[in-house]
Amino acid sequence: MSRSSPCMHSNLLLLLIVFAGLTLINAEKKFYIVYFGDRPESIEATVQTHQDILSQCGVDTEESIVYSYTKSFNALAAKLSEDEAQKLSEMEGVVSVFPNRYHKLHTTKSWDFIGLPQTARRQLKQESNIIVGLLDTGITPQSESFADNGLGPPPAKWKGTCLRFANFSGCNHKLIGAKYFKLDGNSDPDDILSPVDVEGHGTHTASTSAGNIVQNANLFGLAKGTARGAVPSARVAMYKVCWVRSGCSDMDILAAFEAAIADGVDIISISIGGVSPNYAEDSIAIGAFHAMKKGILTVASAGNDGPSQSSIVNHAPWIFTVGASSIDRGFRSKVVLGNGQTFSGIGVSTFDPKQQNPLVSGADVAKTAADKENSRFCIENSLDPTKVNGKLVYCKLQMWGSDSVVKGLGGIGTIVESMEFLDAAQIFMAPGTMVNDTVGYAINRYIHSTKTPSAVIQRSEEVKVPAPFVASFSSRGPNPMTQHILKPDIVAPGIDILASYTPLRSLTGLKGDTQFSKFTLLSGTSMACPHVSGVAAYVKSFHPKWSPAAIRSAIMTTAKPMSRKVNNDAEFAYGTGQVNPHRALSPGLIYDTDEMSYIQFLCHEGYSGKAIATIVGSKSINCSSLLPGQGSDALNYPTMQLSLKDTNEPTVGVFRRRVTNVGPAQSVYNATIKAPQGVEITVTPTRLVFSRALQARSFKVVVKAKSTAFKEMVSGSLTWRSPRHIVRSPIVIYKP
Ligand SMILES: *[C@@H]1O[C@H](CO)[C@@H](O)[C@H](O)[C@H]1NC(C)=O
Ligand SMILES: *[C@@H]1O[C@H](CO)[C@@H](O)[C@H](O)[C@H]1NC(C)=O
Ligand SMILES: *[C@@H]1O[C@H](CO)[C@@H](O)[C@H](O)[C@H]1NC(C)=O
Ligand SMILES: *[C@@H]1O[C@H](CO)[C@@H](O)[C@H](O)[C@H]1NC(C)=O
Repeated sequence: MSRSSPCMHSNLLLLLIVFAGLTLINAEKKFYIVYFGDRPESIEATVQTHQDILSQCGVDTEESIVYSYTKSFNALAAKLSEDEAQKLSEMEGVVSVFPNRYHKLHTTKSWDFIGLPQTARRQLKQESNIIVGLLDTGITPQSESFADNGLGPPPAKWKGTCLRFANFSGCNHKLIGAKYFKLDGNSDPDDILSPVDVEGHGTHTASTSAGNIVQNANLFGLAKGTARGAVPSARVAMYKVCWVRSGCSDMDILAAFEAAIADGVDIISISIGGVSPNYAEDSIAIGAFHAMKKGILTVASAGNDGPSQSSIVNHAPWIFTVGASSIDRGFRSKVVLGNGQTFSGIGVSTFDPKQQNPLVSGADVAKTAADKENSRFCIENSLDPTKVNGKLVYCKLQMWGSDSVVKGLGGIGTIVESMEFLDAAQIFMAPGTMVNDTVGYAINRYIHSTKTPSAVIQRSEEVKVPAPFVASFSSRGPNPMTQHILKPDIVAPGIDILASYTPLRSLTGLKGDTQFSKFTLLSGTSMACPHVSGVAAYVKSFHPKWSPAAIRSAIMTTAKPMSRKVNNDAEFAYGTGQVNPHRALSPGLIYDTDEMSYIQFLCHEGYSGKAIATIVGSKSINCSSLLPGQGSDALNYPTMQLSLKDTNEPTVGVFRRRVTNVGPAQSVYNATIKAPQGVEITVTPTRLVFSRALQARSFKVVVKAKSTAFKEMVSGSLTWRSPRHIVRSPIVIYKP
């Protein structure tokens, strides 16, 4: 979200790609992903089948195939004409054919803030057996966050590799794997064909999740502290799938999932996303399903398209979906006007000008009268250089980079006015800050009230701010695809996060920026995701045998509830609340789920046998033989969500759930229900008695509400309490 985060950057890239796509003519070949049914025993047989089927359609296999997926998936990626793709989709043995699409990319005080201090209890030996795999923009191997002081060789289960590549010095006992995936043939002059991180995003996310402890990390003296991941002793494997210009493509993402699963990672962290029409066309959902089959939890970012409703991505129920919340630190700069008036702006400006500079408004210094429309936004080529030289310029925000434009014309710096993006601190490449429209209005009035307006933007300072709240940019529910699964699952810090960065990019990536730093601040759900993947690794180091669903359940039911008062969208913004690493180690009860339950879920959702086969990687599934006649909300999910029918009759939702005892063998839990006004919620039984470890108990929650009882969305909760544990599940009721 922050300009220096790749999201904005990637939005732009996406536009360019779409534009390029429009100019293509139909006969031109494009990349497609072709899914086959069950995987034959041997890799050779799989490859042979692929080639036979393609040959039968008259496709030159040597020329066309770019990836053969044979380890987890039975699929391939190939460059095909529309005709060929159509023909293939009708072939016996092919379950589906989808065009390859591109996704976009969506820091350490934050650990202390959510209650995982450096002194936290650890299982060091187990922790060093945990491998966190990240699909991202690459990594900076020489970063101190990935130094291997004290770590032994990788755990024996590790099958991955790490080679030396261009501009990439290789791995060590901390960074144990690094690969890159790019076979779309587009050259990317701003990137390097190597796992090296030219962007900064992958270095940042990897160090947040599992980076080493680095003392005295800071950004030019700001945000000073100890940088570290959740699991400093865990290992890191980087799978580079995102490229500066071309973005992150489905076929590369699938290849990376397959490699990570085969290599033996424990947790997959993916801060990437894009809208998909359904799970069968979503490479991240498909990759995560195969990971889940092998006991690997995939943690993904919710997206940066909030606060629009239903903007959430990566919402498949086998994915752990993470939104972004704030921590209690902000960055403010004082703006002092020539008349002594002082305002506070938001942002990171590391410059320390001592004297007042002449101040102009972009609207008044257009190159020509016709440029005035653009000059008030300080857009490139709209400003008169002679009137900008040596001045501070006040502009409204339309696109990022006005500081680069102004500096390029010899200007001193910028005051940017915006009503959006004020959650996160932008980093400026010259003295600069962001103000809201009230302050902007006052500054503009001052500029026009004197002959010699002037101002100074002081160096930014850290301030304590109220927290946590959900970032405005964090994508919101309700789930656009499945009305009875609440998403996001959880939130974690994703605003102004300090973590490691690449030396290959300036802080802003803008022309003329000469600021480089080993650490930087980034914002986005991209930064929230590795907090939770790190906590998942932390939980796994205590409970190595837990399933992906169990780890997720432990983290969700122990999350710290957040306030509906400060977060309008309530659960649609924060899910179960803010991640609480300490409590997640000991949840008491877990809601476990296996592969077959997810297949049944897909059947209930109305997916065809072929679509399900595409996702789970098997022959066509016969749903009618799988459904034991349960309600559509039988998936054993740790949250509950009811969408109301638009009638005068009350809607009744029945949620069947099953919890497994992972606390003391003999435990008794009592239920507490919080029902919002106008909603009736009952649970039976109200008491669960366990006499041994891993014993499971079932219960049923019935929710009854009329759509006339309230406006859009209300929520309550079910909490199971024993003397030692609190297991909380939000219950959301909404009108779709
Ligand atoms: C990558 O390595 C090549 C060869 O050593 C060098 O010329 C180039 O400048 C490097 N690129 C970057 C971005 O460091
Ligand atoms: C605008 O920013 C100023 C300075 O930070 C603050 O006092 C004021 O409350 C803000 N106004 C609005 C409408 O957010
Ligand atoms: C699917 O399963 C049902 C119930 O077991 C069975 O009656 C039906 O014949 C099966 N359909 C196919 C195509 O195998
Ligand atoms: C659960 O309910 C029983 C019976 O009402 C009560 O005796 C017990 O103290 C309760 N336990 C907890 C943890 O609240």
